[in-house]
Amino acid sequence: MKLQEIGTIEEINTLAEGMLDFRLRLPKIAALARPGQFLHILCGDHTLRRPISICDCDPEKGIVRMVFEIRGEGTAWLADRKTGDSLDVLGPIGHGFDLLPEELSAAGHSKPFEYPVFIGGGIGVPPLLYAARLMKNPITILGFRNRERVILADEFARLGETLVTTEDGSAGIKGFVTAPLEEWIKAGKADILYACGPTPMLKSIQKLARAYRIPCQLSLEQRMACGVGACLGCACKTHKQGKEQYSHVCKEGPVFWSEEVCFDE
Ligand SMILES: Cc1cc2nc3c(=O)[nH]c(=O)nc-3n(C[C@H](O)[C@H](O)[C@H](O)COP(=O)(O)OP(=O)(O)OC[C@H]3O[C@@H](n4cnc5c(N)ncnc54)[C@H](O)[C@@H]3O)c2cc1C
Ligand code: FES
Repeated sequence: MKLQEIGTIEEINTLAEGMLDFRLRLPKIAALARPGQFLHILCGDHTLRRPISICDCDPEKGIVRMVFEIRGEGTAWLADRKTGDSLDVLGPIGHGFDLLPEELSAAGHSKPFEYPVFIGGGIGVPPLLYAARLMKNPITILGFRNRERVILADEFARLGETLVTTEDGSAGIKGFVTAPLEEWIKAGKADILYACGPTPMLKSIQKLARAYRIPCQLSLEQRMACGVGACLGCACKTHKQGKEQYSHVCKEGPVFWSEEVCFDE
């Protein structure tokens, strides 16, 4: 179920240059939100809302947190908002991560998982925080371009073991998230993967999950228009029940089981 709610911006923090962290008072949406779902936000007089993931949520306080990067006109408008301003929000939208035993068993995984590993890349990191917070002993691997782009690593580290990689080696391990991930898998310390980030990273994680036969969920970032399953603007090729088909990322996703996703080669 999704709602339209007028939220108030309670707090704004800057996490890195051009990357903002908003805490929004949205009690009705907070009561329903699941990790991996997103908000669809009206940005000034732009007709199309902008999708931004739920980074964290406190249903008791009625607060939903989102972290976004300024990319174009809509996110620049958002970045100009001030504490106390109102936002018109639709949410929570989409199918989030399957985390609870009943969600996992509906997807055919009845045995409990001991070692959930969360893998985030760049602006794909924020949507994993709420999911990791709800798990026991999450392990997290976060990848960034360089140390100036590192966000939220301290918050993940408070939840469980956290590794940071940067492409230039200016923070953490030099290279991509996939190298430490493969080591964790080989050490038997990864039995389910949850990933969000750029498509090349998701493709590599899909390959690892397939090679080592580990269940894996991928959160896809697709350009969107209506955000509510009405326009096919967010179609992506998937493989379900033995057939290739197009799925709506805004409705059946943004999170899919990795074996369902058909990336273009
Ligand atoms: C499910 C989902 C969750 C997302 N979560 C986050 C998040 O947590 N933090 C964050 O910084 N960004 C997130 N994004 C990307 C964010 O939606 C885009 O950066 C934003 O829409 C860009 O809008 P703009 O007006 O600033 O840019 P413009 O390029 O001016 O946007 C023009 C149009 O293209 C669409 N668009 C452009 N880029 C994207 C994109 N990457 N994905 C979807 N639509 C796009 C916009 O909605 C708009 O309709 C998410 C995208 C999706 C699909
Ligand atoms: S964005 Fe319109 S169907 Fe998904």
